[in-house]
Amino acid sequence: MIDTRTIVALDFPSGQKALDFLKQFTHPIWAKVGMELFYAAGPDIVSQIKALGHRVFLDLKVNDIPNTVKGAMRDLAGYGADMVDLMCLGGSAMMRAAIEGLAEGSKGKARPLCLGVTVLTSLDEKALREELNIGVSPLVEVEHLARLAKDCGLDGCVCSPYEAGAVKRAGGSDFLAVTPGIRFATDAKGDQKRVATPGFAKAQGADMIVVGRSITSAADPLAAYAEAEREMEE
Ligand code: C5P
Repeated sequence: MIDTRTIVALDFPSGQKALDFLKQFTHPIWAKVGMELFYAAGPDIVSQIKALGHRVFLDLKVNDIPNTVKGAMRDLAGYGADMVDLMCLGGSAMMRAAIEGLAEGSKGKARPLCLGVTVLTSLDEKALREELNIGVSPLVEVEHLARLAKDCGLDGCVCSPYEAGAVKRAGGSDFLAVTPGIRFATDAKGDQKRVATPGFAKAQGADMIVVGRSITSAADPLAAYAEAEREMEE
């Protein structure tokens, strides 16, 4: 299922804009549908992207009580997503319920991969300590949450490129480390704090990278995508 390493974040305000953007990709890619696009376009956007031959990572960062999450995940599996995610901070009962919901919603087919979001790449150590009252570094927190996610049956974690090694240490070689917060060496950081290049993420152990604006806002998105894939293959 993991044949390409770059997941393109389709953070567009409408389904039509996302589908228009995707038209230039004539080969199958991993497309990420996040909250902005999903809330604007609705669940049909998943099957519309799948109909173009692409894989869909439905990045809704689910976080609620276990019973609600189980039902939500049942629905997300029914939409045909290939990968979904939740917030690890929802706790172990929530993560286990999510896996049950995904299995039920898949109706005998392989369930979607499920990732746990550890610490958002827009948060740095200062925000963790001073705003969220989490008195450990992002690295320690990510490794702890990845271990919990692995115990609960998740398939991998989302983390910054700087913590990809911690995720692999916690979960083992088959446990996916998926890293957003990617910028090419020549890009601006935007609102992301813990950013790095695709090559750095790969060297830290990332299995897949999530790239949004560095591809979607590039003068030549296809070339930017090819550059990300090239750095991930080296
Ligand atoms: O444009 P940019 O490359 O910064 O987009 C990153 C994407 O990855 C966004 O869609 C954002 O929601 C997502 N993401 C993130 N940090 C996480 C999980 C997902 O930035 N921890």
